[in-house]
Amino acid sequence: MPRTTRAYSISAESIAAERERVGGDPAKMDVSNVVKLDELELRDLGPRDVHLRILAASAEHNIDHAATADTVNIAEMRGGRIFPGNSALGEVIAVGDQVTRFREGDIVITHCNGDPDEYGFPLRIWAYDMPESTGWYAEEAVVGDWQIIPAPLNCGLNLWEIAALPLRAPTAYHMWRRALGMYRLKVPRERQAVLNVLGFGGGVSELFLQLARAEGHNAFFCSGSPERRAALEKFGVVGIDQKAFNRFASDDDVKAFRKHVREITDGRDMHIVCDMLRGPVFAAGLAASARQGVNTSAGWQLSQVLEYNTTILSVKQITLDHTHYETIQGCWAATELYGRVFQPTIHHEIYSFEDVPRAFHEMHENTQTGIPIIRVAEDLPDAVSGIVGES
Ligand SMILES: NC(=O)c1ccc[n+]([C@@H]2O[C@H](COP(=O)([O-])OP(=O)(O)OC[C@H]3O[C@@H](n4cnc5c(N)ncnc54)[C@H](OP(=O)(O)O)[C@@H]3O)[C@@H](O)[C@H]2O)c1
Repeated sequence: MPRTTRAYSISAESIAAERERVGGDPAKMDVSNVVKLDELELRDLGPRDVHLRILAASAEHNIDHAATADTVNIAEMRGGRIFPGNSALGEVIAVGDQVTRFREGDIVITHCNGDPDEYGFPLRIWAYDMPESTGWYAEEAVVGDWQIIPAPLNCGLNLWEIAALPLRAPTAYHMWRRALGMYRLKVPRERQAVLNVLGFGGGVSELFLQLARAEGHNAFFCSGSPERRAALEKFGVVGIDQKAFNRFASDDDVKAFRKHVREITDGRDMHIVCDMLRGPVFAAGLAASARQGVNTSAGWQLSQVLEYNTTILSVKQITLDHTHYETIQGCWAATELYGRVFQPTIHHEIYSFEDVPRAFHEMHENTQTGIPIIRVAEDLPDAVSGIVGES
């Protein structure tokens, strides 16, 4: 008999209805009207599958993109409905008869590399554009065993902090190792040991800057949120108030930012910039870049199309890098750094499963003070009872 679970979905129909309600402007959409509690039929457990009970998940920005259809209408492209959620922590409740790496009772995290290419990079993302994939804003899930990694329960983080990382940490890890590699191709360690690294507001950037700090570099976090800046200052990351530069609304704001960066870096500027937002942030990141600098991104929250002066970038030897997500091996490696390097800032409220639509509305409104976490399971297994923290 098919097994069903409660799961959130985004349908092309609910996107269209909400679009119509707000006169067609995606910026005015209330995503809590689009992300809806639904029922999902789980596939039968195959020989290499695991059956998970989802304990916690982090709210990810790709849901905002899916619910507003501001980039592509992924629900429509996937046949009218998707079951989103590609970052979760769960308990294995059953395994197929060929699964050897996991067993019932294991606590695991997911990764969202849904379809690795020949070098391991994702052609598609799980629970987004990967056909047939269903996500983890659900009470239960059945996935292949290659889609999960043992949760590092002894890493020093609490359960909610671990749940903040499965998508954002591999993204930051990949961006950091790639950006650093590119910079080092141009300027080896022998010539310059300490770099200036800048990140703009957001969970991935925070983790990127923690990687930079862990390797002894100077790190700067330009965010509009005082809470998020204060959280990073504890790790020696210098805060820059993005709102003091009017979020780079005009050329004069960008110039003022550039001048400020000059001052706080003793005239050396930024060697590596992490910009997940694009839009006006892109110009500010370029303006603050040092010669040979690397500007890396895996996001396009504020715009998809950029304009830049190739002559200036050539003369300054600037590299623009675009990444998507880690290889599966890279996701395992990033997990080794939980707690040692990655210490995520989480939003002060842990949302309940019923609160998922509100969590996404508040993410859209940019009122959260850290990475938003959803507690999916009320009853938690003994294996995690020692690291539950406050909820
Ligand atoms: N390719 C991937 O694998 C991948 C993985 C993760 C994320 N992403 C993408 O990267 C982007 C950022 O995600 P995230 O998880 O790092 O961020 P996040 O934790 O969701 O935070 C988003 C940040 O956006 C900033 N923001 C909101 N409105 C802004 C505005 N008008 N101007 C400037 N900043 C604004 C806020 O910074 P303030 O503190 O300054 O308000 C906020 O902290 C999203 O588009 C997401 O889809 C891609």
